[in-house]
Amino acid sequence: MIVNLMLGGMETTTNLIGNTTIALLEDPAELRAVQHNPGLVPRVVEESLRHVSPIQGMFRETTEEVWLGDTLVPAGSVLELMFGSANRPDFRRS
Ligand code: HEM
Repeated sequence: MIVNLMLGGMETTTNLIGNTTIALLEDPAELRAVQHNPGLVPRVVEESLRHVSPIQGMFRETTEEVWLGDTLVPAGSVLELMFGSANRPDFRRS
């Protein structure tokens, strides 16, 4: 449990802070806006979680068989839903 909390809690927050810093440095107008109005920080964090998320996908297990396009996925399959690219049509970094 401790390893789970350390890995899950550290990797996510560290990368979110780093990704947010890079995103703001790449957009000086946005950086100035936040510097002049710290009240924007909660919105910056929320937008960073969407735009440059440290988590690019989530695992889910199917409870019944389901068609995905032309593919029949059996019940009990573990799928990773990669939502990262869907959150940012102007994706530039991997
Ligand atoms: C920016 C910060 C964080 C992000 C983006 C994040 C994201 C996520 C995501 C997407 C999941 C999977 C949820 C799901 O599958 O439904 C998850 C699970 C989890 N996270 Fe985080 N997390 C963050 C911070 C933390 C921190 C600080 C901790 C612990 C101190 C933590 C502990 C956990 C644990 C224990 C789980 C597994 C929960 C379960 O399976 O019931 N996370 N997190």
